[in-house]
Amino acid sequence: MSSVSPGGAPDKHEAVRDMFGRIAGRYDLMNRLMTGGMDGRWRRITVKAAALPDGGRALDVGTGTGDLALDLARSKPGSRVVGLDYTGPMIALAPAKARAKGLDRRVDWLRGDGHRLPFADNSFDAVTSAFVLRNFADLHVAYAEMARVLRPGCRVVALEISPAGLPVWRQLFAGFFERVVPLVGRLVAGDEEAYRYLPASVAAFLSPAELAGVMRDAGLVPLPPRRLALGSLVVHIGFKPEA
Ligand SMILES: C[S@@+](CC[C@H](N)C(=O)[O-])C[C@H]1O[C@@H](n2cnc3c(N)ncnc32)[C@H](O)[C@@H]1O
Repeated sequence: MSSVSPGGAPDKHEAVRDMFGRIAGRYDLMNRLMTGGMDGRWRRITVKAAALPDGGRALDVGTGTGDLALDLARSKPGSRVVGLDYTGPMIALAPAKARAKGLDRRVDWLRGDGHRLPFADNSFDAVTSAFVLRNFADLHVAYAEMARVLRPGCRVVALEISPAGLPVWRQLFAGFFERVVPLVGRLVAGDEEAYRYLPASVAAFLSPAELAGVMRDAGLVPLPPRRLALGSLVVHIGFKPEA
């Protein structure tokens, strides 16, 4: 599988963490600007696909500043959510957002690595991620871990940008991503390199069919993916069968 690293660094795991550490303070604003505020809607669709039951327990891997974890907690009465991320400055911003939304008693924030989840097998009723898959140093190991901690009969659901489906859209999308996004990244986040890594990592990422293969290797059954924004975003869904 092809994989790119910020600035072409040899150790992707550390380079990605350093990069998110640098842009954490402007991360949410950049998301809103780049997506025209659509990212909230995409996360809510992802939450729905996770099919968390009332009172269920969910894990959001690579939670960043916590938006998907908070949407999960709000989606079901009595649910409990763990938001996990390995970048301190990103996850440090999450508790204040939880307090502002009155959700602080429903979500726990944990600094940790998605390649080595600190949970027992079969612990969660849903495992989610948003815009994280491209960033894992080893996607196979990360999927094996997400599948391991998930209860049988439940889902691993991942929202990710995809090299877009339609040819015309792909050209428009590439122009926006390769020229506009790095410029806005330089002006708003003061980090053009981070926003050059974004389109490069998308271009190198897997198709939905290839990602289905990764899910199968992790013991999950891929369900039909949900394509959003003319296929430029995909909600990948993997189901864990009973043993
Ligand atoms: C693009 S951000 C997405 C944040 C959030 N999920 C959202 O929807 O805004 C990617 C996040 O994945 C985290 N991440 C990448 N690799 C990770 C790993 N191995 N373990 C934990 N977090 C990881 C980064 O620290 C970063 O916060």
